[in-house]
Formats: sequence, C-alpha cells, structure tokens
Amino acid sequence: MLVGWGGNNGSTFTAAILANKLHLSWPTKKGTQKANWYGSLTQAATVSLGSGVYIPFSNLLPMVNPDDIVIDGWDISSMNLADAMKRAQVLDVSLQQQLKPHMQNMKPRPSIYCSDFIAANQKNRVDNLISGKKQDQLEKIKSDIADFKKSHNLDQVIVLWTANTECFSAVIEGVNDTAENIKKAIFANHSEISPSSIFAYASISMGCTFINGSPQNTFVPGIVDFAEKEGVFITGDDFKSGQTKVKSVLVDFLVGAGIKPVSIVSYNHLGNNDGKNLSAHEQFRSKEISKSNVVDDMINSNNVLYTPGEKLDHVVVIKYVPYVGDSKRAMDEYTSEILMGGLNTIVMHNMCEDSLLATPLILDLVLLAELFSRVEIKREGASDEKYTRLHPVLSILSYLCKAPLVPKGTPVINALSKQRACIENVMKACIGLPPENNMTLEHKVPCLMTDDAVHDSPKLKKCKMENGEY
Ligand SMILES: NC(=O)c1ccc[n+]([C@@H]2O[C@H](COP(=O)([O-])OP(=O)(O)OC[C@H]3O[C@@H](n4cnc5c(N)ncnc54)[C@H](O)[C@@H]3O)[C@@H](O)[C@H]2O)c1
Repeated sequence: MLVGWGGNNGSTFTAAILANKLHLSWPTKKGTQKANWYGSLTQAATVSLGSGVYIPFSNLLPMVNPDDIVIDGWDISSMNLADAMKRAQVLDVSLQQQLKPHMQNMKPRPSIYCSDFIAANQKNRVDNLISGKKQDQLEKIKSDIADFKKSHNLDQVIVLWTANTECFSAVIEGVNDTAENIKKAIFANHSEISPSSIFAYASISMGCTFINGSPQNTFVPGIVDFAEKEGVFITGDDFKSGQTKVKSVLVDFLVGAGIKPVSIVSYNHLGNNDGKNLSAHEQFRSKEISKSNVVDDMINSNNVLYTPGEKLDHVVVIKYVPYVGDSKRAMDEYTSEILMGGLNTIVMHNMCEDSLLATPLILDLVLLAELFSRVEIKREGASDEKYTRLHPVLSILSYLCKAPLVPKGTPVINALSKQRACIENVMKACIGLPPENNMTLEHKVPCLMTDDAVHDSPKLKKCKMENGEY
C-alpha cells in the first residue's frame, strides 16, 4: 500500500508492475521497447557463485514474484491512476494508452492532510481527505489496511511512504519520545504528530512493515520504540536513487584510494511535483539533511587523510524548474587533494527521469523487506538459543536508502558496495554459501589452479608430484 499512490513514483511503480506482468511492449522512435525491471537489484542484477558462475539475485532465495504484488494506497488527490500517470509525464504515451484501461479504475483512498507538514504550494491537489481528528484518521488507516488484506486474501501487507516530503517534526519529551506518549499524543490530536507518523503508527499496529521513502523524521523515537515493542519492521529514510547513490560510490572510491575529497558541491534542478514541494524552505531542509550525512562513514574510516571530527565542505542546492518535469538534472563537483598538494576536480552531469530511478527501488524495498521477514538467525553451536528475527529497525536495506535508519548505538554504513555486499552475503548465508571475499586464490596460487592454468609453465609443472599433488 503506497501513501502518495497518485504521485509520480506511485503511478510509475503501478505502471511498471502492470507493464511487466502483462509483458507489454510499445513503439518508440528508436524501435520497440519491452517492459523491464532495469535498475532493480532483485530483478536485474546477478550474484557470483564463484568460478565465473553468476545467477540472478532473485534466484538465490525464494522471493515474491513482482507479478504477484497487488497494489492499493492513499492520496490526498483523488485522481485515478491512469490520469495520475498522464499528469506525471514520465512514461511513453503509447505505453500509457495500453495501461489506461488497467489503471483508470484504480482510485487512491482518502488520506490525511495537515498543511503544517507539506508545502503550501500543494494545496490545490487536496480533494481526498479523511475527516476527523488524528485518532479517527489512525483508525481509518488501520481499517483500510485490514480491508485491503481481507478483500485480496493477502499473505502480507507492506506500507510504503512515497508521498510528499514533510518538514521535520520537533521531538518533544512527553509527546513523541516513547510508544506510550505518541499514542497519547495522537489521541490528544497533538499538532506535532505528522501524517507520516500516523501512517507508521497504524501500519505497526496492524503488524505491517512500514518503509519511509522520503527524508523527514517519520521515525521519531516514539515510533521506533513502538516498532521495537511490537517487533514490526520499519526501514528508511529516503530512496537512494541518483545523485546520492553516485556519491556513496565515488567518495568510497576516492577515500579508499587514499585520495582526500575536500569539497563536494551538489546542485540539482527538477520540475516535477516533488521539486515544487521541495522549493519551500522547510521541506528542502528535510532533503538537505538526508543528503548531507552520506559521506560521513567514509571520511571517518580514514584517519590517515582526516583528523578526527574533520568535515569536508559539502553543499546541496535544489532548484525547481517546471519545464524539465520529472527529468532531474544533477551536477556535482568533487574536489580532492592528491599527491604533493595537487588538486583533482571531478565534475559530473547526471540527467534522467527521477521516477524511473525510484520505481525499481520501491520494488526492491518491498521484496527484500518481505524476504527478510522470513529469515531467522541463531549462532552456530548455541543449542539453547532460539532463532530470532532481524532487529525491527531493518538496517539491512540501507543500500536503498539515502539516510539509513539503524538501531540505536549501531554504525551507519553509507558506502554502496558495503551495503550491497551485506544483502548479498546474508542471502548467501541462508543457503550455506560463504560470503564473497574476492580473494579468488584459485586464480593466484598454483596448487589451487586448474591444470590448464599451469599447463604452459614448466617451472610450475615441476612442483607437481607424481601422485598429482603440488
Ligand atoms: N523520485 C525519486 O527519485 C525520489 C528519490 C528519493 C526520494 N523521493 C521522495 O519520494 C517522494 C515522492 O516523490 P514523487 O516524485 O512521487 O512526488 P509527487 O509529488 O509526484 O507524489 C507525491 C504524492 O503524495 C501525495 N501526498 C502528499 N501528502 C500526502 C498524504 N499526507 N497522504 C497521501 N498522499 C499524500 C501527493 O498528492 C502526490 O500525489 C518525495 O518525498 C520525494 O522526495 C523521490
């Protein structure tokens, strides 16, 4: 169930699920295009099993097939999904025409609107609201989840926030700092409880995983406390789709290579409704915060280059330019110190439909959250230990999040390759495979190499004894 179903991400995700399920293809000026899941870790990436054997990620463990996903959701705009897809201006017109009959009867459920949390410029979309106080709204969301689950006879419901970015909520002692207090605050209709926190509370109450695809602090301490008490997964924040994804690769590479990044200036402009909402200061501030801490773990990992507490100059700018629509432009300048006081400047220009990057991440978040809800772990040899589920703060999905939420007191990892290796290695462990260590000694140590590999080297051949051993 998507909160913000009628938005660019919500409508593009729905269209992508249907287009793949129906095996649609459509004409473009470059030829026929078939539906695909490019950009999805689970559907379009592979895993090495060693010795040059690669299998699709989705074949490693039994995973939900995207075709079996049923979608529902809420939006403060009542527009049906076919019209929402048209409004988004993301997909080719001929694909939209094929999808229209499948999407025009999909209508978002009424949602919670609170003008204090999203930009004032969103007001003219608002025509689909749940009335009443926060407590009534909470109960309505819970009954929507129950209704959806029952009417489609579903195994599991996952709720994902892909609605507008909200401003941060103030964390107030006695209001949203514990599970008990946030419950009381919802009942008291407290103004600091955001719509996204009400959705998270409802979702956890119903035992449903809640994923936050936006940067705001939906997961105030009271929500985290509630998830921990109920043992329900929460994960976020903010999809790591474009500029930040590249940053978490590039800075890892630079620092790992012994090069010292000293300034990163990231400029974006976009013209979709997300950009319009982010043009308001408070909502931009949420995004700025989630984008800004992304290099910290990499800087802190190298005390040869950086003194403790040293920060680099890191600036993030976002501008709203309606004409470019969903086609976001990101321009980044990375300046680094290299040998003998030299400077190295890398400039990057990145341009693509934002929702086409976010949609595969939504799929992966949902599929992996479901998969990890079936994984239980105990220590080898600990016969008196019970199998336990992963911690309710599901940090294993950090790969997909710009500002990963982690359990209190545990380190945040932003480096993309480490985040990916974490998912891959845990999945491998589930079927008894060792983690990928990239030593490939079988290609480096003669006694481990195949006969073919040492065949042409008389010196190596001499090491082979008569019984065939080296
Ligand atoms: N597209 C990306 O690459 C990307 C990456 C990271 C994060 N995000 C975040 O994902 C979110 C969605 O992006 P988008 O491009 O789809 O935006 P969008 O503005 O097109 O869609 C958001 C939808 O949420 C609805 N909405 C707002 N408040 C609501 C509420 N309280 N309840 C229900 N619906 C509500 C709006 O009516 C709109 O239809 C944004 O917060 C954005 O910052 C997007």
